[in-house]
Amino acid sequence: MKFFVDTADLAEIEEIAATGLLDGVTTNPSLILKSGRPMVDVIRDITAVVPGPVSAEVTATKADKMIEEGRFLAAIASNVTVKLPLTWDGLRACKVLTGEGFLVNVTLCFSANQALLAAKAGATFISPFIGRLDDLGLDGMKLIDDIRTIYDNYDELETEILAASIRTVNHVQQAALAGADVSTVPPAILKKLAEHPLTDKGLEQFLSDWAKTGQSIL
Ligand code: E4P
Repeated sequence: MKFFVDTADLAEIEEIAATGLLDGVTTNPSLILKSGRPMVDVIRDITAVVPGPVSAEVTATKADKMIEEGRFLAAIASNVTVKLPLTWDGLRACKVLTGEGFLVNVTLCFSANQALLAAKAGATFISPFIGRLDDLGLDGMKLIDDIRTIYDNYDELETEILAASIRTVNHVQQAALAGADVSTVPPAILKKLAEHPLTDKGLEQFLSDWAKTGQSIL
């Protein structure tokens, strides 16, 4: 599974990229607002740090304007992935932009039929929003399962499933079990993935016993 980080905060991205485990980044207009910086600067800075796909979202709602914005954003760097909303206009724009060779992430996906349409429109990534479905008492992970099944039924559908709106470490594990290709994870949750109290306790015991041996490796 590939790990993307879901933030527009450059310092957080640099910290996680330094692990060598980061495959890409997703941003959205809300995350750009939170960064307090101009979008183009943010995207340019992120693409300089992360060689993998960096999603930058259009804000137009009509296909023609989405295409124009998409071309503009894609010109920032070769790894910019144009993020389009899952509307009919977004799907039209997806078809055109992927036809021109651009990477496209179709976002705000809440149903398997939407995901099927995005794949037919040639999307590079489809972003089903797990947490927002769970917030409504629905089953976000079932959506990942359903999309996986549908995509696997048809060899010609090559769109990658990008599990989004992840709120817990369990979401990451369940998305991996369900066969999502990518998880985009908020930095705080990404850091928690490596943590376990028994790891901390075990390490404390080993180091304490090691100190008693009086030895040092180097
Ligand atoms: C994905 O690309 C989105 O930016 C993100 O995962 C949305 O998450 P949220 O529902 O926590 O806002």
